[in-house]
Amino acid sequence: MCGIVGYIGKRDSQAILIEGLKKLEYRGYDSAGIAVFTDNGLEVSKAKGRLANLEGKLQGEPLHGSVGIGHTRWATHGKPSDVNSHPHTDNSAKFSVVHNGIIENYLDLKDELIAKGHVFVSETDTEVISHLVADEYDGNIIEAVQRTVKRMRGAFALGVLTEFEPEKLVAVRFASPLVIGVGKGENFIGSDIPAILEHTRDVYILDDGEMAILTRDGVELMTTEGDAISKEIFHVDWDLVTAEKAGFDHFMLKEIYEQPKAYRDTMLGRVADDGKSVQLSELTMTKDYINSIRKVHIVACGTAYHAGLVGKTVIESIARIPVETDVASEYRYRSPIITPDTLVIVVSQSGETADTLAALREAKRNGARVLAITNVVGSSIAREADDVLVTLAGPEIAVASTKAYTSQLVVFYLLSLYFADTLGTKNTAEVSEILAAMQELPEQVESILEQALVLRDIAESISSHPSLFFIGRGIDYPVALEGSLKLKEISYIHSEAYPAGELKHGTLALIEEGVPVIALVTQEELYEKTLSNIKEVKARGANVLGIGNVGYEEEANKSVDTLFSIPRTLPILTPALSVVPLQLISYYASLALGHDVDKPRNLAKSVTVE
Ligand code: F6R
Repeated sequence: MCGIVGYIGKRDSQAILIEGLKKLEYRGYDSAGIAVFTDNGLEVSKAKGRLANLEGKLQGEPLHGSVGIGHTRWATHGKPSDVNSHPHTDNSAKFSVVHNGIIENYLDLKDELIAKGHVFVSETDTEVISHLVADEYDGNIIEAVQRTVKRMRGAFALGVLTEFEPEKLVAVRFASPLVIGVGKGENFIGSDIPAILEHTRDVYILDDGEMAILTRDGVELMTTEGDAISKEIFHVDWDLVTAEKAGFDHFMLKEIYEQPKAYRDTMLGRVADDGKSVQLSELTMTKDYINSIRKVHIVACGTAYHAGLVGKTVIESIARIPVETDVASEYRYRSPIITPDTLVIVVSQSGETADTLAALREAKRNGARVLAITNVVGSSIAREADDVLVTLAGPEIAVASTKAYTSQLVVFYLLSLYFADTLGTKNTAEVSEILAAMQELPEQVESILEQALVLRDIAESISSHPSLFFIGRGIDYPVALEGSLKLKEISYIHSEAYPAGELKHGTLALIEEGVPVIALVTQEELYEKTLSNIKEVKARGANVLGIGNVGYEEEANKSVDTLFSIPRTLPILTPALSVVPLQLISYYASLALGHDVDKPRNLAKSVTVE
């Protein structure tokens, strides 16, 4: 997992590459580097750590030239270090490569090249690619790259330069994202669209096994077999400002505040004007198919998996179809029973998560239909799924997912209601009631956001504790899981989430004087049971923050130390509200502890390795 950029044109490339890498830093930030054709030939500059380190280095020793490639790294093979940073070169330093992905057979290839006299300086799989291209080169860089990729197993998006053909930038994609930006007298490559959006809105989105040969004046597309292809240009009409912080201190905070808009956008055009039904015109599945679905598998990772756990309850209760939710990295290996009447729903903000993509392919191999819920239109998962429902959350930059998660919940509600219409599991009045309540969610989230300072105080008091617990019953439990994950990943405070009734089967032993417990108490029919569980932890000295519903304060107040009330909504919709205070608590706890909120240690935004 890494980000790559490339430029060929008439302008000085250094600043263009650095700006592109800034947009891609969410894909990894262990190190960064660029290679540029300067008057001295192909020159490389790279530095361990954040992009700022590379910028500092280039200030002292700039690389001037109008053709270059750049990389920001999330370490997979070899620790973060200067020498393991990209771009990598061969021994002659005439070839330079940037790579996003993993080459599975790199050790075999490396042994073979060492036997031929190649000398390696890094521990990376990518260095093998630069040597292999050099080894395969006999005067034609396109053919050399084609021969090279035939020998590699794994995932890759590559940008390749050679001093022998300085008028060409070669790009190739297999299982890692890559876009080609088409400009006037200049062309670009990037791991995603925002990396090049400042310069052009016309892009080609490469598919697996495709390559692009960029010159200043044009882009030639072909397969890695050398067959010419023609593709339609995708004109991007997003606004780059949506990818900026817009006055907030951090992207995460901005994205938390964008949730009302994300809810509105995700529902826009999908609810009939009379408010009585859901229209998902983008779905290609027929009513007969919906009637034939016998079970649903929801497969995803991390936060998207937590959305899938909520999705299970939502689909089962609204559409009455049995659902299993799986962590994508486990799905393939548990030999799941996938039949043609299984609908597999993969959920992925980025649409590039390797485990989720692998699960999608496994499902398709077994004859299932796959529906993707994703935030990235041109992503690999979106393109390989049979159907796609896009979450219209806008670009999510902070590593910790917030608005993408809540938009995924909205899509699950819409999808369930859409199924219910065909399956007759809810009548029009029931559907209308849920849709009306959904329309209120954006304003209700706004009212929670207005109380951010209360949550900041709570977060600050929690931040001095080494460990805490989240509990909840029913649909509150997946929200507890999500609250716990969010807190761990950005504040580095240990926390665990449990079904409220489960604590007494072991974990209660960890509750002692002062341990914070965050209890979600939003389900009216489970209210008394959860309050009993709260009393169990209180009796052992826990300090309990309750997240409850407006209207139940009196009863809840007796049981908890502090109560934060969320607006009343239908029980099935509460996750769309109750997660918001938990997001803010995590944010402010991270801030209080002085951590890098948007780029937590050891993590990256898009996990394209298994
Ligand atoms: C946590 C987080 C991750 C992602 C996970 C899957 O805040 O964002 O747990 O949810 O890596 O990513 P996507 O949704 O891109 O497949």
